[in-house]
Amino acid sequence: MLKGITNFVSRYLYAAMSCIYLFAAGFLFVRNRLLIYKISSHFGYPEVNIPVVDPASIIPLKNLEDSPVQVLEPIGRDGNVSAVELFIINLFIKAMNPVKIFEMGTFDGRTTLNMARNSADHARIWTIDLPRERLDSTKLPIVPLDRQFIDKPSSGTCFAGREEEKKITQLYGDTATYDFSPFFSSMDLVFIDASHSYEYVLNDSRIALKLLKDKKGVIIWHDYMMWEGVTRALKELYSTEPEFKDIRHIEGTSLACLVRGWG
Ligand SMILES: C[S@@+](CC[C@H](N)C(=O)[O-])C[C@H]1O[C@@H](n2cnc3c(N)ncnc32)[C@H](O)[C@@H]1O
Repeated sequence: MLKGITNFVSRYLYAAMSCIYLFAAGFLFVRNRLLIYKISSHFGYPEVNIPVVDPASIIPLKNLEDSPVQVLEPIGRDGNVSAVELFIINLFIKAMNPVKIFEMGTFDGRTTLNMARNSADHARIWTIDLPRERLDSTKLPIVPLDRQFIDKPSSGTCFAGREEEKKITQLYGDTATYDFSPFFSSMDLVFIDASHSYEYVLNDSRIALKLLKDKKGVIIWHDYMMWEGVTRALKELYSTEPEFKDIRHIEGTSLACLVRGWG
């Protein structure tokens, strides 16, 4: 009993000191801002909330009966999606059978590899990554925590040399300046997981919509409710741009998705 009280008091003091720091100076760091969102939300701050859905309500699981999902490299690293998120992305690929897929933010290519393995033999994937030499010359602001994922010797190491590589085209560039026009109106699924800044997520989301064939298909975002910039941008798109009004947050994950005119 006494031990329980001591533990609580110690945690209470730690949290109180952390709050003083958060509101005095911590908010200056992007990585702490999501906490302010969460605290204000917890105490009823009126705000837009993207509806949360069960993945089974948007993924046609009946298409999977004879076609099991395969998860390659299930143990990820910092910067990757979680194992559950990877499984759900693979479910989308298996169940919706997109033929043309575009990924923004390759990193080590773990998700690219999985999308390649779970898609049809004739499916193709294009994935774009920012070369480390462009780290300090992006058109839009990035957030400091993005730097660790950009600053790496090479992109796509998970699929390099593997059978799945033949389905994948690696592109390099800054999503704010890259000429995406050759890919406009051709993609069935777009996965957005590049820079996490508010400005980039707005930019990448609007490009993703242009990439979809006849504006129909699926857009998946990673890191909703995990990164402040991603969260703010998606809430804004959801509440102000009619083409994004059907964005949904997938329960138990940091994935958000927009399914437009599928099936
Ligand atoms: C979080 S990692 C992507 C993780 C990967 N999608 C996965 O599922 O494992 C973010 C990637 O986006 C890239 N990136 C960041 N800013 C970018 C930009 N402006 N244009 C293109 N790629 C960018 C980084 O180089 C990094 O490889």
